[in-house]
Amino acid sequence: MTEKAIKILVTGGAGFIGAHLVEALVANNFQVTVVDNLSSGKLSNLEKVLSRISFIEGDIREQKLLEEAARDCRFIFHLAAVVSVTKTVENPLGSSLVNELGTLGLLEAARYNKVHRVILSSSSAVYGDDPRIPKKESMPPCPKSPYAVQKLVNEHYAELYGELFGVETVCLRYFNVYGPRQDPSSPYSGVISIFMKQAALNQQPVIYGDGKQTRDFVYVEDVVRANMLAAQVPNAAGKVFNIGTGQMINISKLWNMVAKLAGTTAEPEYAPERSGDIRQSVADIEKSNRILGFRPRVELKTGLASTYQWYRERL
Ligand code: UD1
Repeated sequence: MTEKAIKILVTGGAGFIGAHLVEALVANNFQVTVVDNLSSGKLSNLEKVLSRISFIEGDIREQKLLEEAARDCRFIFHLAAVVSVTKTVENPLGSSLVNELGTLGLLEAARYNKVHRVILSSSSAVYGDDPRIPKKESMPPCPKSPYAVQKLVNEHYAELYGELFGVETVCLRYFNVYGPRQDPSSPYSGVISIFMKQAALNQQPVIYGDGKQTRDFVYVEDVVRANMLAAQVPNAAGKVFNIGTGQMINISKLWNMVAKLAGTTAEPEYAPERSGDIRQSVADIEKSNRILGFRPRVELKTGLASTYQWYRERL
């Protein structure tokens, strides 16, 4: 992707993942427009590139705004969403207006503007608590939260827009994404961002459950590359892909790695398991490897080190 002046719209471009993607697109000389209502994203995430993009502070529930923002765009990367699972449980209707209807509006804007391809951010949450691992795209979805239902509905709409209207779409099911800029401020923030903050401040972390639950942590730069591949690879259209590493680690071991990096001897406090917590999660990345050519490059140890450095400079 090195052509000049191709127009691209990124929704949620001021968010954690979105801002990393925008930086990569700008570095490749694309003409980028960001739509973000700054409800969870921050303008400071875009400070390095703000002078080189068009930034629209706006909401994806505003159809006219989307249609104008998508004008002449060849690609749309759709990352805007209510990303907290808990918030969608507290407010299924309000979150659905953003996550479901907002996405439908975006697909409409893509259809209306004859956008070549839309890349949608989905989630491993759609697998729910099916105990089988690794998770394969062919497994039946088992959504356990409004968030997961909303993401799954989006995947169906995406496929449908390809079939009915010829709008190419690719859905990426992210596993546990981490890296610099992830906001550690809420108890429901990503565990790595929380551990990083606690380790840097020499605070005691809380581990929910026995700490043996596992996750597949994928570095944000690898997620950005997956998005770029999803835009480029011709036969990715109409498909859903897992984006993880295929490796899992348990939460106690994760804390040990972070503690070692930070040189802290703080011992975790163990608290009751969170309700709805998934026991084991790891992606099967054979399909994304085979079709997208996706191979995660950043090993957990390396990714944790660069993430920790980022937090230490700021805390
Ligand atoms: C993550 C995503 C969610 C997605 C889901 C898909 C984040 C913030 N959430 O949820 O959007 O739908 O994957 O499976 O990325 N934990 C602790 N101590 C803490 C914080 C967390 O022990 O201080 C534990 C949790 O109980 C959980 C694990 O760490 O077992 C991971 O938690 P978290 O980072 O919140 O992500 P998921 O629950 O996997």
